[in-house]
Amino acid sequence: MANSMVKFHEKPGLNFDDVLLVPKYSKIRHRASVSLRSTISVNTDSKHRWEIDVPIISANMDTITGLKMARAMSELGGCGFIHRYQTPEKVSETIRDPRKLKNVSHSAPIVASIGVDEEALDIAQVYIANGADIICIDIAHGHSERMRHVIEDLHAWNPKLHIIAGNIVTGAAAKDLIEAGATGLKVGIGPGSVCRTRVETGCGVPQLTAIMEVAEVAKPLGIPVIADGGLKTAGDIVKALAAGANTVMTGGLLAGTIEAESRLEYRGMASKEAQENWKGSAHNIEGIAIRVEDHGSVYNVIDHLIDGIRSGLSYCGASNIEELWERAEFILTK
Ligand code: XMP
Repeated sequence: MANSMVKFHEKPGLNFDDVLLVPKYSKIRHRASVSLRSTISVNTDSKHRWEIDVPIISANMDTITGLKMARAMSELGGCGFIHRYQTPEKVSETIRDPRKLKNVSHSAPIVASIGVDEEALDIAQVYIANGADIICIDIAHGHSERMRHVIEDLHAWNPKLHIIAGNIVTGAAAKDLIEAGATGLKVGIGPGSVCRTRVETGCGVPQLTAIMEVAEVAKPLGIPVIADGGLKTAGDIVKALAAGANTVMTGGLLAGTIEAESRLEYRGMASKEAQENWKGSAHNIEGIAIRVEDHGSVYNVIDHLIDGIRSGLSYCGASNIEELWERAEFILTK
């Protein structure tokens, strides 16, 4: 007998591969004239916002973003979120001297990540004192009571603080975290190239749908969205932006670059290898570790991605990301 209690989500879930963007009439003469400037955090109390020239953020994973990657991403006009799988002293050392991270021509924010454990507030305060501009509270399941409390505590401590929170995949989660004080949201549960969450737990939301649903709630409230994980090509980045993301975060596209923290290894932060490394033992293994090919300098990788993204916007007849949101029309590929 059918179980009348079982619920289904209203709409079917879509991934990047399920869609293409329909080309539109374009007045853009040169792809180089397309602006990719975008926002990563808005504090609606102080009206202060952090923007970057290139909407790509390197993932706060221990094989990806340390000082070298953060500095390179900043120079490139993007941003690197410093990972949290190291001592607070090490993170503080990295962010202490802004000249180490900031480049004169760009003013990318310095972003340090924390979890939701008891010391979260203390650690965030130390990072702010050492020069962090934004705190990213990053946990596997961001729509949780602990997350709410940490955001509320940080917001109460300093209402002008920029707090990016994630990861989430629903409109309900977006609403709750924004109400608590989040100034930016990070979207994605299980789409990542080294993720096993969907396989191990049966949970997640296909990434394109997750981005659309979070953006639908966040946009009217003025809060930007980062689409995190599952990006295999520049085309996927264009689709993520078209679905409503302001920026994207990637680890997989930057693994194997000279500037990555670990040259030829890439691993999920919930992989056995990563967990044993940073906490001595592994439980709830929801990631894998892989060897990656040498991809040379991140400067070339990002240049190539920027070309594809600019071209994608021009096919959609959009000269910037806001126009992309207005003009984008997806078509199902199957
Ligand atoms: P890509 O596709 O760029 O995704 O490799 C990077 C994002 O994956 C997330 N992440 C994980 N997800 N298990 C997961 O299910 C893990 O072990 C894991 N490690 C990282 C994270 O959001 C990252 O930015």
